[in-house]
Amino acid sequence: MSFNSFGHLFRVTTWGESHGPSIGCVVDGCPPGIPLTESDIQPYLDRRRPGQSKFTTQRQEPDTIRILSGTFEGRTTGTPISLLIDNVDQRSKDYSNIARAYRPGHADITYDLKYGFRDYRGGGRSSARETAMRVAAGAIARKVLGGSVLIRGALVQIGPHAINRAHWNWHTISTNPFFCPDAQAAAEWEIYLAGIRKAGSSIGAIVEIVADGVPVGLGAPIYAKLDADLAAALMSINAVKGVEIGDGFAAATLHGAENADRMHMQGDRVVFETNHAGGILGGISTGQPVVARFAVKPTSSILTPVSTVASDGTDTEIVTSGRHDPCVGIRAVPVGEAMMACVLADHLLRHRAQNPSAPTEARVPV
Ligand SMILES: Cc1cc2nc3c(=O)[nH]c(=O)nc-3n(C[C@H](O)[C@H](O)[C@H](O)COP(=O)(O)O)c2cc1C
Repeated sequence: MSFNSFGHLFRVTTWGESHGPSIGCVVDGCPPGIPLTESDIQPYLDRRRPGQSKFTTQRQEPDTIRILSGTFEGRTTGTPISLLIDNVDQRSKDYSNIARAYRPGHADITYDLKYGFRDYRGGGRSSARETAMRVAAGAIARKVLGGSVLIRGALVQIGPHAINRAHWNWHTISTNPFFCPDAQAAAEWEIYLAGIRKAGSSIGAIVEIVADGVPVGLGAPIYAKLDADLAAALMSINAVKGVEIGDGFAAATLHGAENADRMHMQGDRVVFETNHAGGILGGISTGQPVVARFAVKPTSSILTPVSTVASDGTDTEIVTSGRHDPCVGIRAVPVGEAMMACVLADHLLRHRAQNPSAPTEARVPV
């Protein structure tokens, strides 16, 4: 049994723990001849890197990526691409309390229940340190997808404070520490999250990922639906408790006529007037933007004392000191983008394999 891989033709396997010497991944199935060096991957890792603002963990990891195999003279060879990042700022002593007791809301209890043994240092394999490798794999997936597919993510809500969608500006994302597309909301979040952090508490968030330029036809009925694979990929991100595509749960409140994405012809092309479906119908991409959102729960490692059980079977209380993100939703943004990229790249290769001459735009096959 192995559960550390995802994807079919573009297949990613990650390995490593929070406090091991290094983490890594193998990307298998990447087509040959794609220009690829570390400089194509590093900028994405830099966006996820911890310690960049007071609103993320102060663990200082440069996350310097090394390509160990699968490229020659700056291009992919079609063989497995092995990637490695050394862990340089592990502080195992910060975590001595979680060796003794289980943090409510974390994976400590279930790892012990399942395996009877766990690497408690920084959460071991359950730590979001692993997500750095997803981001690295996602950078390769973007290259497979090519320049016409643009994948961008944004934090659209922290706790009860949602952005004003009328203020949405993609350029604003890089001007604040939250990947927030609404400058006014970002200013408000700064004050709100400073209070959460000062109190040693944490808060949940909602992340939105949008993929523009996705070709028509990715995904397949019935067990390879693009939305099903996307949901699984996003749900696999640490701390994610809900995923929706397009209007998602809000679609339950709509009448059929409101939810209908009306169509008309423009020359020989089909044009959709709205995108309630989030770019996917019947599990297959329509050529509209693919839109997904996911809810991230509050960080479970908090300074507030909470009751729990100890590994010796006694009742106890735990306070998690050490370095943590007060809102893990922030750093989940680049991770969500990467998972979207990996799923789309996998489906692009699968679509090409089955249906190499299919149109890439919404044209009615007359
Ligand atoms: C980018 C990122 C950073 C995270 N950092 C922390 C952290 O510092 N402390 C913590 O308790 N959980 C953190 N988490 C969440 C845990 O990894 C996660 O809650 C835990 O593995 C249990 O899994 P589950 O919440 O998916 O059930 C982080 C999650 C993400 C996406």
